[in-house]
Amino acid sequence: MKPVALAPPLLLALSLLACGGGADPDAAPATGASLYQVNACYACHGRGGEGSSMGPSLLDLEQHWTRDQLVEYLLEPQAFVQRDERLRAQRNRYPQRMASFKHLTDEERGLVADHVLGL
Ligand code: HEC
Repeated sequence: MKPVALAPPLLLALSLLACGGGADPDAAPATGASLYQVNACYACHGRGGEGSSMGPSLLDLEQHWTRDQLVEYLLEPQAFVQRDERLRAQRNRYPQRMASFKHLTDEERGLVADHVLGL
């Protein structure tokens, strides 16, 4: 019997679950850039936020978002996507949806928001 090949999106989802973004207490304090890295935002949005076939560009986010909105969005993106026509249209272009980053603290979501607003 052939081994079952996992589709790349599933592998990505599994690795996201596995790493969980949990902070290592001995590690250097988290920054927006390190959280972007640890939470694999780059896997869908590109290292510099330029976007990929998995997710939209995060450049020029300030045209659409305030910091507070982004912090809320990261907690429950799909609730936002429901209400926002632009995001809804965008979602259909990508194989997976934007994940929720509930496991981060508000402070960490704030750091990530600052980071992506500065891209
Ligand atoms: C599995 C792929 C994936 C990962 C990982 C991911 N995103 Fe997304 N993201 C998307 C997709 C797809 C969208 C488009 C809307 C949707 O489908 O929900 C999106 C939308 C966004 C948007 C809104 C973009 C706009 O046009 O206004 C922001 C901001 C964002 N992501 C930030 C992040 C951050 C920060 C992280 C890491 C903490 C992250 N994303 C991780 C796939 C991903």
